[in-house]
Amino acid sequence: MNNQNFNLSNYLKEKRAILEEHLNKILICFDQNRELVQAMRYSLMAGGKRLRPILAMASAEAVGGDFRLAIPAACAIEMIHTYSLIHDDLPAMDNDDLRRGVPTCHKAFSEATAILAGDALLTHAFKILSKPDKILLSVSSISQQPIFELFPDKATLLELVSIISDAAGIDGMVEGQMMDMMGSSFVNALPYSYSDDSQSITTSESDNLFSDSISDSVSSVKMDYLKRLHHLKTGRMIIASVQAGAVSVGVGVDSKIMKILTQYAENIGLAFQVTDDILNVEGDPTIMGKAVGSDELNNKLTFPALLGLDESKQFAVQLVSDAIESLKLLPNVLQQNTALPFNCELHSVLPLKAIAEYILKRKK
Ligand code: IPE
Ligand code: IPE
Ligand code: MG
Ligand code: MG
Repeated sequence: MNNQNFNLSNYLKEKRAILEEHLNKILICFDQNRELVQAMRYSLMAGGKRLRPILAMASAEAVGGDFRLAIPAACAIEMIHTYSLIHDDLPAMDNDDLRRGVPTCHKAFSEATAILAGDALLTHAFKILSKPDKILLSVSSISQQPIFELFPDKATLLELVSIISDAAGIDGMVEGQMMDMMGSSFVNALPYSYSDDSQSITTSESDNLFSDSISDSVSSVKMDYLKRLHHLKTGRMIIASVQAGAVSVGVGVDSKIMKILTQYAENIGLAFQVTDDILNVEGDPTIMGKAVGSDELNNKLTFPALLGLDESKQFAVQLVSDAIESLKLLPNVLQQNTALPFNCELHSVLPLKAIAEYILKRKK
């Protein structure tokens, strides 16, 4: 693969189709008349960019591995991501009516069904990760066949369970959502708060000799909070996707290869959430399939609110350029690792590079 003949849009289409075929088979294993299964299908198959699962498959390919080994992890990650969106849209959280171009799960079904569909997607993701060989599709009344053609060995699967549950859980996405929910109370509790236009700073202590240094430190406290929030809420699952792809094909968790991939993923993870914040200000809801303007309405702490739109865009450009820079180190490190269980010669970082660039250009 060289730069000339790599076509990202074809690549995304091809990988999305493979993923969706597997997700569909996972759902078909259950009685389609059940309301729970219908709600799971409604949200899981509503579309979506499938960025995280595609990253997992691209990461497997970036090191020269067979991407099919990463499909169980890719499916599990997309199921966890979809559960997080269903819960994120609930009235108790962001209270959104539109997701992936259709009414949110709780609008199409009921709040209780949406909560349970999310729970079921999360739980079943770990069933898939723990025993992908036992996810069987009935092909006739007497024979069943495994949905996944290839799957990692048991020790690797356990590693995947650990990586993905860490990223999704108490010190990962769930805590990020918690920080997001508490963001405005956190800001209000600070001694200074930005006025509505976010340019001028108002003070609760009228005559403060140290106003400049205090306002600087307040800004930096907010920025630290926001970076941590985004890292946990969005970054951790994106990092886990890239790591899971490489681990699925046999890359060690403590290897140099993993360090490079993690650096790449940390940067695109933050860039992805910064662009999500930007699109919430100036995106087109008909293209995005979800509401815009809701962050400001809900008084959310976001990059545009803190830095302004232009600086947020520059920040995203810098993060993506740093991500691409780390990928340049990969070929050399792969050459030094002759003991890897796959043919490194086949590696290609072009999909990961193109996905990083796509994050800046995306309109949805
Ligand atoms: C939306 O994620 C929620 C965030 C973490 C920013 P995506 O933008 O990947 O949503 P889908 O999967 O394409 O619908
Ligand atoms: C959603 O974040 C993040 C997760 C579901 C983990 P947001 O609330 O910022 O994203 P959208 O705008 O609803 O997709
Ligand atoms: Mg939210
Ligand atoms: Mg939301």
